[in-house]
Amino acid sequence: MARTRGAPKTGAGRQRDSDTVCSGNELQCFRGLLHRCCRSLELSSVPEVVAGRADEVAFLTQFLCEKLSKRQSGSLYISGVPGTGKTLAVSKVLEYLENESGQDPFNVVIVNGGVLSTPKRVFTAIWSGLSGKKTTPEKALELLDRRFGTLSKDRQCDVLVVDELDRLVTRDCAVLYSLFDWTSQPGGPILVGVANTLTLLDDTIPRVASRAGLARLPFSPYNNHTLFNVLVARTQAYLVDNTPLFSQEALKLCSRRVSNISGDARRALHVLKAAICLREAAVLGGSSQSTVSTGDITQAFKSCDSGVVGAVRMCASTEVVALIALYVCVRVSQGQRQEERSGANVSMSGCLPLFCRYAKASGLDSQWNIEHSWSCLVTAYTSLHSVGLVTLSCLPPTLSTKLTPSDLLAWEDIEFVVGEDWTWGPDVLRVVNLEIADTDKSE
Ligand SMILES: Nc1ncnc2c1ncn2[C@@H]1O[C@H](COP(=O)(O)OP(=O)(O)OP(=O)(O)O)[C@@H](O)[C@H]1O
Ligand SMILES: [Mg+2]
Repeated sequence: MARTRGAPKTGAGRQRDSDTVCSGNELQCFRGLLHRCCRSLELSSVPEVVAGRADEVAFLTQFLCEKLSKRQSGSLYISGVPGTGKTLAVSKVLEYLENESGQDPFNVVIVNGGVLSTPKRVFTAIWSGLSGKKTTPEKALELLDRRFGTLSKDRQCDVLVVDELDRLVTRDCAVLYSLFDWTSQPGGPILVGVANTLTLLDDTIPRVASRAGLARLPFSPYNNHTLFNVLVARTQAYLVDNTPLFSQEALKLCSRRVSNISGDARRALHVLKAAICLREAAVLGGSSQSTVSTGDITQAFKSCDSGVVGAVRMCASTEVVALIALYVCVRVSQGQRQEERSGANVSMSGCLPLFCRYAKASGLDSQWNIEHSWSCLVTAYTSLHSVGLVTLSCLPPTLSTKLTPSDLLAWEDIEFVVGEDWTWGPDVLRVVNLEIADTDKSE
């Protein structure tokens, strides 16, 4: 794919000056370097480059440049499993288009569906982004319909980015239809929708999804190699005595282990930060080794994992059964490939029958009237959501609420805790493993 001239940086070559240990108080300087590196690995820290996403960045830049220069409306759907750099790529391309590309000025509104209290609030957010004024969702929809229904040569183009678009799915999909229908209006916006599922639009708004004008940009999951390149790009500026703070082997180990589970770059960044803390503690304890090694990464995985396993251990029995139901539901609905499992989200209604079945196998259901299974499930998932083991697409959950398991928690962790901690554990695991074996056979 041809790269648009001067497109945002995507990690080819060294992109910034290195950060090295200063002279003077060596220990202080070393710790300063570690802290700066840790801060740069925070999720809130925006890296200078989108490493290894040259094709995706070029496609997005070209799409937006073309639409903006022709003053044309249009829609692009970006999909990919969590932590694959979608939000980062979009923000970098917009930054480039606004500041460096020489494009005529345009309006940009970025809305994240995940932070809205209801899907239709997206209209309020968009209208407020365009006009600076707050209003009700209904009024905002009316005003936006009017704006996009009228062609105005004097107005700047409107670029709408709707991230976490899947959070805007409603029973009638009216919000999604409105967003995408605007792009076929005379004064319509350029819409960029971002979500995790490849087929979200085909499943929800097939009439729009089959339109020839809808462009699509899938972000493939990071594999071992691509994640390694991301980690190199994120850490290569930090040098100790002209040696990278992280050894190549350490970064390779981290990318291999994360890509085996989910390929979510967030998880890898989290582990690198934990490894830095371990190295700092070791140096303060007298170690003369200043670079982060594979040993630190292995320890860091253990300390990150023990947090999650510890959290499962603190759960009530109904919550653990609800977790089991979720994992089996994801496994059955998405197949057993790891990268699919991590990006999956299933609904409360899918988990309910499994929850009832496993509650029965554990004998726990004798403690509640079966009619209360639903309220037990709601309480269990709400509590799991609050400790970060599960993410619910809305609160309080309804039958159609989507659930995503924490990517830090593997099925093996649950199996381990359930087998060790609960007297009913082996009975439930037997039922679960039989069901999984049946599913695998039929795949
Ligand atoms: N190619 C990359 N280069 C540098 N950093 C990256 C890259 N990909 C991801 N990251 C970092 O990983 C984290 C997650 O990336 P991002 O938020 O863009 O993921 P996403 O695909 O939008 O995930 P989600 O679907 O969960 O919203 C961010 O901190 C981001 O800076
Ligand atoms: Mg994102």
